[in-house]
Amino acid sequence: MRLTRLAVATVLTLPLGVTTASAGPGPDPLPISVTTVLPAPALALPDPREAFPLVPDTVIVASGPAATVAGQLATAFRPATGFALPVVPDAQPGAITVRLTGGDSAEGYRLDIGDDGVELSADRAAGLFYGVQTLRQLLPPEIDAATPQDRDWVIPGGHIVDAPRFAYRGAMLDLARHFHTPDEIRRYIDQISRFKVNHLHLHLADDQGWRIQIDSRPRLTAVGGAPGTGVRGIGGGYLTKDDYRTLVAYAADRHVTIVPEIDMPGHVNAAQVAYPELTCDGVAPRPRTDIRVGYSSLCIGTDATRRFVTDVVRELAAMTPGPYLHIGGDEAHSTAHADYLAFEEWLLPLVAEYGKIPFGWQEIAQTPAARDAVVQYWNHEGDPGPTVASGAQVVLSPADKTYLDMQYDLLTPGGLHWAGTIEVDEAYDWDPAGLLHGVPEDRVLGVEAPLWSETLTDLADIEFQAFPRLPAIAELGWSPRATHDWESFRARLGAYGPRWKQQNVRFYESPQIHWS
Ligand code: ACM
Repeated sequence: MRLTRLAVATVLTLPLGVTTASAGPGPDPLPISVTTVLPAPALALPDPREAFPLVPDTVIVASGPAATVAGQLATAFRPATGFALPVVPDAQPGAITVRLTGGDSAEGYRLDIGDDGVELSADRAAGLFYGVQTLRQLLPPEIDAATPQDRDWVIPGGHIVDAPRFAYRGAMLDLARHFHTPDEIRRYIDQISRFKVNHLHLHLADDQGWRIQIDSRPRLTAVGGAPGTGVRGIGGGYLTKDDYRTLVAYAADRHVTIVPEIDMPGHVNAAQVAYPELTCDGVAPRPRTDIRVGYSSLCIGTDATRRFVTDVVRELAAMTPGPYLHIGGDEAHSTAHADYLAFEEWLLPLVAEYGKIPFGWQEIAQTPAARDAVVQYWNHEGDPGPTVASGAQVVLSPADKTYLDMQYDLLTPGGLHWAGTIEVDEAYDWDPAGLLHGVPEDRVLGVEAPLWSETLTDLADIEFQAFPRLPAIAELGWSPRATHDWESFRARLGAYGPRWKQQNVRFYESPQIHWS
């Protein structure tokens, strides 16, 4: 059951000292420094005596696998600077050096910036990629311009030693309620990866539509992805297997892992319209374009259901290189409780048989099989604590903090408010380690910011709901708790606004923030 506005009011208590009033006239814009990066680095030491000027003959030194990330750095800086920025193998003074080091940090990096050069080092390519995202923020917003800008390019001096607090930093897009095209998804990946978000969860099927090609079940997309499938009958469309593979590769280049979700045993009306044998009476339900939840259920225990689910899991696992396969499991209000438990006890090991780690919304924590799964917490009704004690890891998506489709306030043109309205401070002011009783920090795999699409149709809608709250969730996932500071975050966010403007990213100009 979705939380009512009233129920939420009892659990939304802001920590003392949080400013909710509008910001008023602001301070001078923050000068760019190693301390102004979003998300906050673990350690950032500015050195105001030093700075590195990027000039027409600057070269990037890198070899082996580091050259790939160096190429991404050059590609990011060439259009606005107009400089050649060649990637060369031999060390030289006055260069930007990008190199892999010998340790075992999966995502950490180090950045040393002085008059005589910039050195970016990391143990793995992912760390180098995150160092590049940091470097982009150390140049002025015009660095994202598509054509050469007539200005100086100076990287402020200092040192950063950085690594994430949590391994999983996610965003989710709902393609079922409104389909979003591969181009829109790519553009979202571009934006989220700038904040070191490393997973994109795609909600690929729900009552209103089915958005991923499954060869053994062609009617899923022929019917469930047809024009008019979506909320209010707007949209339609689906990802072919080629689209999906191309997206997975595009995301991987940006160190983002795709987590595909097929929601079961509820949220299956579109599948049942296409394959009526998935209902208990064999009668196809009517297609749905409204936003109600909880009315559909697979018929549990039948051969038809088992064959269908096995086909879908097998094909989805085969096309997904990432470790996770999300099987939904939420809001199965039309599935008898015993059936729900039996279904999950069968399904979660099936996902493992096909080589994937099962991932599901918190309701799956009711079954012992969830001890080997990732449990995604989303509302205050369930207690995944006991399941976590027996082995599961948790991804935290509390709806009243992280659901990017919630309105900022009741005047926000799109979005819903069943979990409350979420201004930027509410998205930021919580601690993933302290959220769930009985779930210690080492069982928290990370955080995820879902974006449901009931009211969102195009990329501008997506961006407006996501920004500026997505960076708040990204910072909770990346930055050590010791850096957590609303005033600092709010100042850095305000300084980021011109970057979104430069990139034509639509964002909500929250009155809580002094936008530069
Ligand atoms: C959910 O919001 N039903 C996971």
